[in-house]
Amino acid sequence: MRMKNKYRKPNTLRWNAGSRCSLLVWSLVGFLVMLYLYTFIHDTNVKNEEHQMHISHHLQFRELEEVEEENLQIPAPRGKRSPRADKRRPRKVHTSLIDEFLDESSKLRRIFFPDETTAIDPMNGTGNDTSCYYPGRMWLDTEGNPIQAHGGGILYDEKTETYYWYGEFKDGPTYHAHKRGAARVDVIGVGCYSSKDLWIWKNEGIVLAAEEKNETHDLHKLNVLERPKVIYNNMTGKYVMWMHIDDVNYTKASVGVAISNSPTGPFNYLYSKRPHGFDSRDMTIFKDDDGVAYLIYSSEDNSELHIGPLNEEYLDVTNIMRRILVGQHREAPALFKHQGTYYMITSGCTGWAPNEALAHAAESIMGPWETIGNPCVGGNKIFQQTTFFSQGTFVLPLPGFPGSFIVMADRWNPADLRDSRYVWLPLTVGGRVDEPLQYSFGFPLWSRVSIYWHKKWRLPRRWGVKES
Ligand SMILES: *[C@@H]1O[C@H](CO)[C@@H](O)[C@H](O)[C@H]1NC(C)=O
Ligand SMILES: *[C@@H]1O[C@H](CO)[C@@H](O)[C@H](O)[C@H]1NC(C)=O
Ligand SMILES: *[C@@H]1O[C@H](CO)[C@@H](O)[C@H](O)[C@H]1NC(C)=O
Ligand SMILES: *[C@@H]1O[C@H](CO)[C@@H](O)[C@H](O)[C@H]1NC(C)=O
Ligand SMILES: *[C@@H]1O[C@H](CO)[C@@H](O)[C@H](O)[C@H]1NC(C)=O
Repeated sequence: MRMKNKYRKPNTLRWNAGSRCSLLVWSLVGFLVMLYLYTFIHDTNVKNEEHQMHISHHLQFRELEEVEEENLQIPAPRGKRSPRADKRRPRKVHTSLIDEFLDESSKLRRIFFPDETTAIDPMNGTGNDTSCYYPGRMWLDTEGNPIQAHGGGILYDEKTETYYWYGEFKDGPTYHAHKRGAARVDVIGVGCYSSKDLWIWKNEGIVLAAEEKNETHDLHKLNVLERPKVIYNNMTGKYVMWMHIDDVNYTKASVGVAISNSPTGPFNYLYSKRPHGFDSRDMTIFKDDDGVAYLIYSSEDNSELHIGPLNEEYLDVTNIMRRILVGQHREAPALFKHQGTYYMITSGCTGWAPNEALAHAAESIMGPWETIGNPCVGGNKIFQQTTFFSQGTFVLPLPGFPGSFIVMADRWNPADLRDSRYVWLPLTVGGRVDEPLQYSFGFPLWSRVSIYWHKKWRLPRRWGVKES
C-alpha cells in the first residue's frame, strides 16, 4: 500500500564526514540511485511499449468510437394508448417516446423492433453485412431461428476455444399471472449457443430445463429464472451456473446454482438460497484473474448491491459480504476489469421499461465503488437516457484489444417477451472523466467508460489475434 512509506523507520545512520563509514554510505547511496534510475528508465520503456500497443489497437477500434447521431421525431401525444405504457412509465423526462416504445400499437414500433425481413441471418447470403451487428434487429441462429438467450452472459471456454452464450430461453406466450403481476413467460430453461466468431451462433439446446410437473421445485415453469451466468472452475473442472430464482411475485428473491462437466450441459440443479441471508434479485457473477469468483446482487428491495466472494468450488457464497452503492437503487449489474481497476455497468429499477445506465469503478472489487456517470455516447439524448432502449446484462472483453469490450444488453419487449432484442455495442475504457467526482477531490480519477451507439457495426478485423 502507498501509505507504508510514511511509517518507515527514520534513518539512524550517524553522519561523520571523516570516517570510512561515510564513503561506504555514499557508495551505497550512489549505487541505489543508479539502480533506481535504471529501473525507472526500464519501466518507462515497458510502459511506452504498452502505450504504443494500446494506441495501435485503439486506431483499429477508432471507427467504433465515432459518435453516431439518431434523428427520431417524437410524435404528438395521442389520445389512446396501451395501459401497459401508462403503468410502466419511469419518473424521468421523455416519457412520450418511452410510451411509444412500450405501446404495442405505436407507429414507431418498427424502429425499435424491426420485423423479420431485416433479421440478421448469418447463414443466408449476407454479402456486405457479414459479421455486422445491428442492435435491435432479430438475430437468427445457424438453423434460422431467433436466438433465445435473454439476460445472458458469455463464457469463453479455453479447452474448446469456443464462446458459449447462455441466457433465458423465453420462446413462449407472454401473459400476466394476475392483475398486478409483471409480464412473464413460463420458464422453459437456460438456452446455450456456441460460436467461434461471436456472430454465427449454433443452438446447443436447453442446458438447464424447467420442471413441468413438480410444483414445489425451484425450476417449476410457473416460477422465475433470470440472468443465468456460467463460469469455469479450474480446481474442480466444472462449469458452474448462477441465476436469479424467484416465484411469480418476486418474493422468494434467491440465487440458484447448477453444475455441469461440459459447457453444453446438461447442468445439474443443486439448490437455491438467499445469499448471506438477504433478498437477491438481479445478479451476476465475476471471475477475477486470481481465480476468485464473486456474486453481486441487488438487495434490500433493490436499494443497494451486495458483493462477496464465492467459495473455492464456486458452489456457495462465503460469510464475507460488503454493501455497495447503498441507497442508489441499481440493478442489472455487469462487471469487468481493465488494468487492475474494476468497472461495473448498472441500470435503474423501472421494470421492463428502459432507463439510464450508470458506470461505476473501484480499486478493490469489494469496494468502495464510485459512480462515474452515464457511459452512453451517441444516438440522441433519449437514446442515452434509456441505454439505447435496453438494459445491460454482460460485458465481454475483446481478446487482443486491451480496453475494448462488447457490452451486451436486452431490449425488452413486454408485449411479447420472446421477441425481446439484443443490443450489442462497443465499450471502451480510456481517457479521463470530464468532471472530477464531487466527493473524491480528483483522486482517483477514473478512466472514462464509453458505450458507443451504432446502427450497424462490426468488430475490427484481426480481433482475437493475441499478441505474443
Ligand atoms: C434467404 O433469404 C431470402 C430472402 O431474403 C429467402 O427468400 C430465402 O428463403 C432465404 N434462404 C434461406 C436458406 O433461409
Ligand atoms: C455492398 O456495398 C456496396 C458499396 O457500398 C454497394 O454498392 C452494394 O449495393 C452493396 N451490396 C449489398 C448486397 O448490399
Ligand atoms: C419436487 O421438488 C422438490 C424440491 O426440489 C423435491 O424435494 C421433491 O422430491 C420433488 N418431488 C418429486 C416427485 O420429484
Ligand atoms: C402472487 O400474488 C397474487 C396477488 O397478490 C396472489 O393471488 C398469488 O397467490 C401470489 N402467488 C404466489 C405464488 O405467491
Ligand atoms: C484456469 O485455467 C485456464 C486454462 O484452462 C487458464 O488459462 C487460467 O489461467 C487458469 N486460471 C487460474 C486462475 O488458474
